Amino acid sequence: MAETDLPKSLVVVDHPLVLHKLTLMRDKNTPSAVFRQLLREISLLLAYEVARDLPMTTQTIETPLAEMEAPILKGKKLVIVSILRAGNGLLEGMLDLMPSARIGHIGLYRDPVTLQPVEYYFKVPADIEERPVIVVDPMLATGNSTSYAIHKLKEKGAKDVRLVCLLAAPEGVRRVASQHPDVPIYTAAVDRCLNDHGYIVPGLGDAGDRMFGTK
Ligand code: URA
Repeated sequence: MAETDLPKSLVVVDHPLVLHKLTLMRDKNTPSAVFRQLLREISLLLAYEVARDLPMTTQTIETPLAEMEAPILKGKKLVIVSILRAGNGLLEGMLDLMPSARIGHIGLYRDPVTLQPVEYYFKVPADIEERPVIVVDPMLATGNSTSYAIHKLKEKGAKDVRLVCLLAAPEGVRRVASQHPDVPIYTAAVDRCLNDHGYIVPGLGDAGDRMFGTK
């Protein structure tokens, strides 16, 4: 994806630690247990970036030495919404950093022929409109499922939505950015293209299978 094609809503988190860990994850010889651990570590680093502009306020506290007005997160705890099943891999590391977050789940699978999303589960906190929402889905491929999930969350009232994925294809970035220009997209890398089966190339294969050892 040429620099000029990048939508303004895209944030590529190209920190050396993220890129190093991503290279290890891409390697087809990396076993599932290591893959899962690396994903957990990268998601913590992505969580750090996506939380950078969360609203803040101050609170009066007493340190052992003095009273002070200290910065603290404002408003209700955020919600992390995992797109099943691969989203759960990103969720773990996010929760390491933000343990009080509320959690939502959206069950979607891609119809292998049409590549369109099919919903089989949807459960999110009732007051989602009052909370920042971070959608997690490791592979932003066609962008169909992710766009659909964001659309459903907005229907439920979500206003502040951010997307975190590990890897993205240019097609997916364009789709989400055009359908949801208000949603910032955080990713570790934007790869070359999609193949005929909707897989990201060079990518890392099927994230769910590699995470759960199902192939
Ligand atoms: N989902 C995956 O797990 N991998 C891809 O490359 C694309 C979608």
